[in-house]
Amino acid sequence: MVARFITFEGIDGAGKSTHIAALTAYLSDKGATVVGTREPGGTELAEALRELVLHRRMDGLTEALLVFAGRRDHLQRVIEPALAAGQTVLCDRFTDATFAYQGGGRGMDAGVLAALEQWVQQGRQPDLTLWFDLPPAQAAQRRAAAREADRFEQQDLAFFERVRAGYAQRAADAPARFARIDASRSVAEVAAQIQAVMVARQW
Ligand code: TYD
Repeated sequence: MVARFITFEGIDGAGKSTHIAALTAYLSDKGATVVGTREPGGTELAEALRELVLHRRMDGLTEALLVFAGRRDHLQRVIEPALAAGQTVLCDRFTDATFAYQGGGRGMDAGVLAALEQWVQQGRQPDLTLWFDLPPAQAAQRRAAAREADRFEQQDLAFFERVRAGYAQRAADAPARFARIDASRSVAEVAAQIQAVMVARQW
């Protein structure tokens, strides 16, 4: 089996969750063993760090250090072993979120984040990143209807504009890895876009 590492990114309220479930079903039907996971989190230690990052006050560098600490544990215990066993890993957010939220949103230096990325990932990158892109105002409407806000979700539109710009920069830096999904469309239309990405890659 071909090991694949697929990540899902986008600002809060972009609608990733529905499509992660759909893609899990699609790839399982094709015979893949799918491991679903998320960041921050994915291991007991990293989930404990997630609680801190989402609910305690701290600056951008502290956030980045905690998410990368969790990421190292997650890579060692879950992601790398799964890929080594030929499994498909679907991860709800990964390092692009750090560049978007701590970099774009909080204004942390991208060079520092790139150094941490190198230390922690040792060259490991997703094979495909599905970037759910939509205007922050539309995402805010969806969030308001759906759930109570965590520390990031309480940020204003200007913060999410910067996060979105952070994703756009990462996509421009790695165009072969990124597929931009127009997440402003209906669930069916978004699913069709993801399907088209899979068909184009013969996955
Ligand atoms: P999210 O993945 O949207 O989970 P839920 O759907 O349960 O709300 O929430 C995770 C939050 O963490 C999101 O606001 C983005 C933020 N985040 C960072 O700031 N940096 C990171 O490196 C990652 C992975 C996430």
